[in-house]
Amino acid sequence: MNRKRIISPSLLSADFLHLADDVAMLNRSKAEWLHLDIMDGVFVPNISFGVPVVKAVRSMTSKFLDVHLMIVDPTPYISVFKSAGADMLTVHYETCSHLHRTLTAIKEQGMKAGIALNPHTPVALLKDILREADMVLLMSVNPGFGGQKFIERTYDKVKELREMIDAQELNTLIQVDGGVNEKTGAQLISCGVDVLVAGNYVFAAENPEERIETLLSC
Ligand code: DX5
Ligand code: ZN
Repeated sequence: MNRKRIISPSLLSADFLHLADDVAMLNRSKAEWLHLDIMDGVFVPNISFGVPVVKAVRSMTSKFLDVHLMIVDPTPYISVFKSAGADMLTVHYETCSHLHRTLTAIKEQGMKAGIALNPHTPVALLKDILREADMVLLMSVNPGFGGQKFIERTYDKVKELREMIDAQELNTLIQVDGGVNEKTGAQLISCGVDVLVAGNYVFAAENPEERIETLLSC
């Protein structure tokens, strides 16, 4: 089946001193989504940026804001990110004791809801919650930093998740995040991925727009 492919460049690798230039570039580009990584220094060993940055980005783009929350207990922050302009909140399976409740709360606020899995978390754990999610994000690196090496095991996880989604006749999107480039990206698409997140591959390039187009056609 030929499914629509979405590219979601991760602003974690953008130039924070010239963030407006990078958002302007993304506005011109063929990327449909922007991926914003929120890190708390507790769930992951790094601190990135928070709500004011999401708000600032929202003020200069009409593209879909895909917000990846790498924070312990994300539930109290759902309405805050909604007010900042998020279109989707993705929470980590590993951080939610009441995932069903959290996903429901995100959707009640009018946002799409995603579940992220760390590399060590099995896809099989999603069986009874899958239908509540608009998207599943499979981490293909350990979350916390851009520019890391892709974990090959991810391909099998994507295939397993694709089978699970198709068996339940759902429209849940599959997103992969970490170490995506034209090689890993092409293979991921053939395994059934819908959304490719790419940070370093896009922003470290001389021509980031060209890299986005490469990811769209690889
Ligand atoms: C990592 C973040 C990613 C990161 C990906 O914890 O969730 O979104 O920006 O960066 P690259 O594409 O450079 O691996
Ligand atoms: Zn991310």
